[in-house]
Amino acid sequence: MVDLSPDEAGQLIEQALVMKQGGMRCLLPWRSVALLFEKPSLRTRVSFDLAVSQLGGHCLYLSPQEVGLGQRESVPDVARVLSRYVDCIVARVFSHETVALLAETATVSVINALSDLEHPCQALADFLTIREHKGRLAGVRLAYVGDGNNVARSLSLLAGMMGIDIVIASPEEYRLDDVTVTSARRLAASAGSSVVVTEDPVAAVNGADVVYTDTWTSMGQEHETTVRRKAFERFQVNGTLMAHAAPNALFMHCMPAHHGEEVTSEVLNGESSIVFDQAENRLHMQKAILSQILIPAD
Ligand code: CP
Ligand code: NVA
Repeated sequence: MVDLSPDEAGQLIEQALVMKQGGMRCLLPWRSVALLFEKPSLRTRVSFDLAVSQLGGHCLYLSPQEVGLGQRESVPDVARVLSRYVDCIVARVFSHETVALLAETATVSVINALSDLEHPCQALADFLTIREHKGRLAGVRLAYVGDGNNVARSLSLLAGMMGIDIVIASPEEYRLDDVTVTSARRLAASAGSSVVVTEDPVAAVNGADVVYTDTWTSMGQEHETTVRRKAFERFQVNGTLMAHAAPNALFMHCMPAHHGEEVTSEVLNGESSIVFDQAENRLHMQKAILSQILIPAD
């Protein structure tokens, strides 16, 4: 997330809003983008693919079986070969080190489409969604309830950049790491906002404008599912927890969601839920990100 400055992140959100309103089509004629994915995806794959097409470029999806990243071929070799064909690599990987190595060795731009460390494109689309619904970002109170994972990390850093007050509630053993909390707090100090970590979901949600959760078991952690279900029992977002939030509070989830686990169907399908706006906004944000990277500045 911190590859972007607060100004750049703000500009991307504003640019995505313009693109959503139908502005700036056919910006990438003859540009090619490779989607290099080690993990499954619905939203990220479809939104990047459509974003490239709608901007007039060409997109290639490369499945894990075809490429064998780091197995059939080394990561630097894949990066160098793809750099001879495409203008940008969008990578979804298990280990963040893989996307970092791709970025280091490719001669074209590499976008992180989710690693075990971060999910920055998701956070940008989420903040676009909050901006649309609340009319602003600075001063909004965001409660994240659940695993201190890739999604929580990118949300916290972007919250620090954009002046959102964020509280992250997780079980002690799954809390957001200290390095991220320190970085997010440093950014928040400049923006005049706060980053709070707690083990109390009710305290986190108290007075919140937005309540956000994510799966308790991320891709690659499936062997921990049973242990995690037990550890996160108190952290389900349900009607009782939402009642502690501010009047007209919104519910967000990056999806895929597990009904009856991290969120009840009542909340996910309820009036406060904006999860499908979030999903749609992935498309508009991907267009803004790709335009920023692939269109040379005047
Ligand atoms: N939110 C998100 O990244 O969804 P996918 O895993 O389906 O891409
Ligand atoms: N934390 C989840 C996000 C899925 C979009 C995962 O990494 O599986």
